[in-house]
Amino acid sequence: MSEIVVSGIRPTGKLHLGNYFGAVINFLKLQEAHDSFFFIADYHSLTTHPTPEDLHGSVYRVFAEYLALGLDPDKCTLYLQSDLPETAELYMFLNMNAYKGELERVTSFKEKARSQPDNVNAGLLTYPVLMAADILIHKGSRVPVGKDQEQHLEMARTFSNRFNRLYHTEYFPEPQAFTFGKNLVKVPGLSGQGKMSKSAGEADCIYLDDAPEVLNKKIMRAVSDSGPSEPGAAKSQPVQNLFDLMALVSNDDTISFFETQHQSGTIRYGDMKKQLAADMELFVAPLRDKIRSTIENREQVAKAAKHGAEKARESADKTMKEVREIIGFRKFY
Ligand code: ADP
Ligand code: TRP
Repeated sequence: MSEIVVSGIRPTGKLHLGNYFGAVINFLKLQEAHDSFFFIADYHSLTTHPTPEDLHGSVYRVFAEYLALGLDPDKCTLYLQSDLPETAELYMFLNMNAYKGELERVTSFKEKARSQPDNVNAGLLTYPVLMAADILIHKGSRVPVGKDQEQHLEMARTFSNRFNRLYHTEYFPEPQAFTFGKNLVKVPGLSGQGKMSKSAGEADCIYLDDAPEVLNKKIMRAVSDSGPSEPGAAKSQPVQNLFDLMALVSNDDTISFFETQHQSGTIRYGDMKKQLAADMELFVAPLRDKIRSTIENREQVAKAAKHGAEKARESADKTMKEVREIIGFRKFY
């Protein structure tokens, strides 16, 4: 039997190359092989109190971007979390058996409580319960997420097991992480340090809809080394990052050309970056075009969202009817 895959996407801004290789292409593979549910986690984003305009804008954008990049409404269920109020109902049920002590011990909660002491709200505390509801509403068994979500997933298993034990049933599965093994790539940023991330600033990220001039400028300004290294010297981190980016978008001949130059100590990083910028543009251009045209095609986006909401509700409706029955909410009229 194929797995039921569920994953949430935080609507936190434009997609960058790291999101593409770290999340989007995995989802594209999953939709081919499994019953997959992907949703924009817009309920979750309320913990930070966005304005209605900001909320709508970022949710629309990220939905349209995933659609543009190939999540296919006929192959997967792509929807908005808020189009599935059944999730909120399941969240409320699960909250009855989620304890303050265990929620307070969650690392992401402790970090947020420390970094934003004026906004330690109940939604933040119960974030893992809502996430469990997202998964269990479709009886999801596989969750493709990064390492940072492992603890949340562990909580989802706890809440699932607790429900089953309380009601003497084996109704909910134990959701497990979906790991891609060796295929899990870490895309480096342009600032010469860690992985590409919005939090490292604009200049660190190659956004998929960066204009050609912007993209070129960012790459030409990427941190590298000042000059050629000694023959045979090991690569510095910023230089390794440039090679890692090249490995994603350039052909084998280009890569071995610069590898050889690095080995022999004759490499000029300006030339390497020029080549990387050209190859990056070739890679990004079709994605950028698709994203821009999809964002403008409100009709296509609306149709996909409606279709996704209908498919998701079919699954959620079935689960909630059964859950209410299990809990003892039985109609007597
Ligand atoms: P950011 O760090 O820019 O805020 P997010 O945390 O919103 O990015 O990431 C969304 C998804 O993209 C996650 O699945 C995450 O694992 C993936 N991702 C983000 N940055 C990278 C990266 N540099 N390399 C690989 N995957 C990444
Ligand atoms: N917490 C996830 C993140 O920060 C997003 C998310 C919300 C999610 N609900 C989910 C992921 C359910 C997987 C399954 O990335």
